[in-house]
Amino acid sequence: MISSASASIPASQDAPLHIIDLIRKKRDGGTLDAREIGFLVSGAADESIPKEQLAAWLMAAWIRGLTLEETTALTLATRDSGVKFSPARLEKTAVDKHSTGGVGDKTSFLVAPLAAACGVAVPMISGRALGHTGGTLDKLEAIPGFRTALTLDEFETVLMKCGASIVSQTPALVPADRVLYALRDRTGTVESPGLICASILGKKLAAGLDALVLDVKTGSGAFLRKPEDSEYLAALLVSTAEAAGTRSVALLTDMGQPLGHSAGNWIELAESVELMRGQRPAHSEDLRELSLILAGWMIHFGGQAPTPEAGYARAESALKDGSALRSFLSMVEAQGGDAKVFDNPSFHKPGATRIVEAWESGFVSVMDTTALGWAVQRTGAGREKAGEPVDPHAGIDFHARRGARIEKGQPIATLYATSPELLAEPEAILKRAIHFSENPPFIVPLVSQVFTRETAEAHLRKAVR
Ligand code: URA
Repeated sequence: MISSASASIPASQDAPLHIIDLIRKKRDGGTLDAREIGFLVSGAADESIPKEQLAAWLMAAWIRGLTLEETTALTLATRDSGVKFSPARLEKTAVDKHSTGGVGDKTSFLVAPLAAACGVAVPMISGRALGHTGGTLDKLEAIPGFRTALTLDEFETVLMKCGASIVSQTPALVPADRVLYALRDRTGTVESPGLICASILGKKLAAGLDALVLDVKTGSGAFLRKPEDSEYLAALLVSTAEAAGTRSVALLTDMGQPLGHSAGNWIELAESVELMRGQRPAHSEDLRELSLILAGWMIHFGGQAPTPEAGYARAESALKDGSALRSFLSMVEAQGGDAKVFDNPSFHKPGATRIVEAWESGFVSVMDTTALGWAVQRTGAGREKAGEPVDPHAGIDFHARRGARIEKGQPIATLYATSPELLAEPEAILKRAIHFSENPPFIVPLVSQVFTRETAEAHLRKAVR
């Protein structure tokens, strides 16, 4: 290999930039400055840089890694690559939550109205299901009439009225990420901490947030499987968001089993509304607890509680007194949804239903949550390719948690599929994904670590990448 010094062309501060030099520089282990990163990102956004050159740079960045400074520059340039939302007219602190994705993860439906009911503005730009993880927008669209594709003006109107709004990305928002993410998806360059960080934060920060609460998943259903990778990503996200002027915290949370009892589209909304009605459905305790912890941080960052613990107490009151439910239903109506379906028990009409009974007795020791996510997708609840429709009524209800003692023949899950032919595959996956043991398994805590700015920076200083 030719050494980097002989291969790259030294450039003065204001010399014109050329993408070939930036590819070679990264390939040879160099560090790009903010001007060079800005050039690359604006060339991605306006599509003036050919895709093969962007792809080459992404692969070089994947292999060489990005420094903290490069990650911050890439995040800011991505955020600034299109139009941005300004929450100034809301006259409230704007706080959002982002989760790195999981199975049955429906905390958005709870935390957005909980924080809104406590006086925080929650402008939430969300995504769709892809792969084994579910998508907030697909779940919301299970409500007849619910519109997720609002203009920025409509988004602001809903926020002014309800305090929270959950929408999809518009074509004009962060165009650079749309180009770069699609290329990463096709070139095997998704799993790079710096690229993930810039992609997630670029989109979130374009909503003009004052603060962001990050839920970074770990365990068998997480996007990053190794705990040390999740820790590094959590620390990187917090440090980068803080460097961009957005207060932030990341919680490392367990995705070693689905969150709550349901995973699908409509069934996840129904479970969330049950909790907001003050009910305590079986197997929903982890969902309730995590939602209150996340909302507690949002309420604290939103200036409505002196500590996250005081925020948790406020969130719990909003759950009990019905104000979170009112806030959620008002958002549903403001976005065109028919809120009456939540009072109609016969609304849920899956094409086919099957109860799966435990095939042996013992303690539920393993729930391979990525496999369970695929089982959910195969019922018709998820999609194989971007753009495909999803079945609002498909999904899986789980009747046991890890650590529960189950007797052979006891119902362990209910499958809801689009048609009877779609029941066999999810059932087979489920039977491979759930294991039983004679002794109770070790149960990991729901929240294993909290990264604030200080702990994130300390973690990054000692992390060797
Ligand atoms: N989610 C994103 O938005 N971007 C990534 O790179 C990974 C997950």
